[in-house]
Amino acid sequence: MTALKNDRFLRALRREPVDRTPVWLMRQAGRYLPEYRATRKEAGSFLGMAKNPDVACEVTLQPLRRFDLDAAILFSDILTIPDAMGLGLYFVEGEGPKFERTVRSAADAAKLGVPDMETELRYVMDAVRVIRRELDGKVPLIGFSGSPWTLACYMVEGGGGKDFARIKAMALNDPETLHQLLSVNTDAVIAYLAAQRAAGAQALQVFDTWGGVLSPAMYREFSLPYLQRIARELDRGALRQAQGELDEHVPLILFGKGTAAYLEDLAASGADGVGVDWLVELGEAARRTQGKVALQGNLDPATLYGSPDAIRREVRRALDSYRDGNGGSRDGHVFNLGHGMSPDMNPDHVAVLVDEVHAYSAR
Ligand code: CP3
Repeated sequence: MTALKNDRFLRALRREPVDRTPVWLMRQAGRYLPEYRATRKEAGSFLGMAKNPDVACEVTLQPLRRFDLDAAILFSDILTIPDAMGLGLYFVEGEGPKFERTVRSAADAAKLGVPDMETELRYVMDAVRVIRRELDGKVPLIGFSGSPWTLACYMVEGGGGKDFARIKAMALNDPETLHQLLSVNTDAVIAYLAAQRAAGAQALQVFDTWGGVLSPAMYREFSLPYLQRIARELDRGALRQAQGELDEHVPLILFGKGTAAYLEDLAASGADGVGVDWLVELGEAARRTQGKVALQGNLDPATLYGSPDAIRREVRRALDSYRDGNGGSRDGHVFNLGHGMSPDMNPDHVAVLVDEVHAYSAR
């Protein structure tokens, strides 16, 4: 494989010195880009795009043509796993993802198994391979998965819930079934991330988007232990590396929304990076994690609705906050938003953000 031309992102995840703070944005490929909307129209649907490796590659590369981003993220979705488990994923315009079948009972959970990565999820692995080839070493490629808990939310609710009534009732009334579901999800997530790594992903991120809807006691029972298992078991990659299967360690980032209360636990999980949302000061996050991990984040995505001057001001504030909490060093920081971008955001504002990160953080 071609050597990487820009390894800032991977160096920052190792907390090594870099010339500029690296930046990428969650949901950097998407509906806010006119070229994305054009490709989507041609492909017919979101799933039609995600399931076609050449189209997934095209859409992955679109934001990199416009902006000076330091990483690419695979164009796919977290719900590919439950879809491959047989739940029947579909999208309703304006309503988001839905499943034809849900998991509500022990019998439903017992039917689930880990999908085969090179048959049922082959389209994802093929997309990783095509994107790596087309990137040609320009920047590293991030593979990803949902967390076991976040996937379970969609599988039990049957789509994007608001109050998570059904899965919380399951946690209260039938925790054994929920643990069974989380356990098979964890096996699937580990196999999925390992397969993306084998196909060429150079970093891996787990999205625990709904971790923050749980009470602390429930987070510690239903989300954290499974994230910890992922970090532990994926790290067996170290063994595979020793056996010559992998060239180098592929770093793992754990992103959680509303989960800043557990930063210390996430930093001790064995992951290389922790993604933080905008409800915590980066400086505070850096102080609390004490250099154990790299930190990724954390501008409020709504910052992109501000004027260019306001965006630059907020970028500088976040960069300075990280440095202040990190003993005066900017190393070990990957700049990002605290969550994904929205369809009504202005692409010109993204350029302002990305360029300001690089300009202001230049060492
Ligand atoms: O970051 C990237 O650019 C990579 C691609 C990516 C997508 N989804 C593309 C997508 C990633 C990393 C995801 C993850 C994902 N998907 C998460 C976790 C991250 C997060 O945002 O919290 C979740 C919860 C999902 C489930 C999901 N898929 C939702 C809620 C939606 C939006 C539905 C809607 O109508 O707004 C999707 C669809 C989806 N995934 C889109 C994109 C670009 C929009 C699809 C379209 O074109 O209509």
